[in-house]
Amino acid sequence: AEKGATATVFGEEQEALVLTAWNAMKGDSASLALKFFLRIFEIAPGAKQMFPFLRDAGDAPLESHPKLKTHAVSVFVMACESATQLRNTGDVKVREAALKRLGASHVKAGVEDAHFEVVKTALLDTIRDAVPDMWTPEMKAAWEEAYDQLAAAIKEEMKKAA
Ligand code: HEM
Repeated sequence: AEKGATATVFGEEQEALVLTAWNAMKGDSASLALKFFLRIFEIAPGAKQMFPFLRDAGDAPLESHPKLKTHAVSVFVMACESATQLRNTGDVKVREAALKRLGASHVKAGVEDAHFEVVKTALLDTIRDAVPDMWTPEMKAAWEEAYDQLAAAIKEEMKKAA
């Protein structure tokens, strides 16, 4: 979390900010996914090596990888689910089986804590650029909280899987 940031109470407003942005973006999820990935690799070029389908792709253009869209959309959709859960229960409960799998697959891929920060920055930048007219500090804070809680749950599971 940002220095000095106070824990926000996650309520209906915060959930609505996350879901409104996603509803405006999801029709364009293919190009959104590409932008999201390009941003991740701009911030952390080495992260490319973690994705087997990119590592083996030679010079093939990024946009030709169907799996790339899958990961990007997963992050968006799971952050939305996280927002809904935060509003309902104040906590993120990814289905236990799903969370176990996520922990294992990210450990296997060599993902480290710092990568979650990279992905967070790329996610926020992508949303800001996709819905500039909606973007406010409140919307940013809501996405941050939803993502942070989700990332914390995955990281926790990664520790168990390591
Ligand atoms: C795989 C979601 C963060 C890199 C996956 C999968 C999902 C997913 C659903 C498919 C495998 C499975 O279901 O277990 C997420 C979510 C994240 C997140 C929701 C954040 C909240 C990250 C980060 C990195 C990363 C920070 C590193 C840059 C990977 C890689 C794979 C993967 C390399 C394997 C891809 C493959 O082998 O095809 N992730 N992820 N993920 N993720 Fe993530």
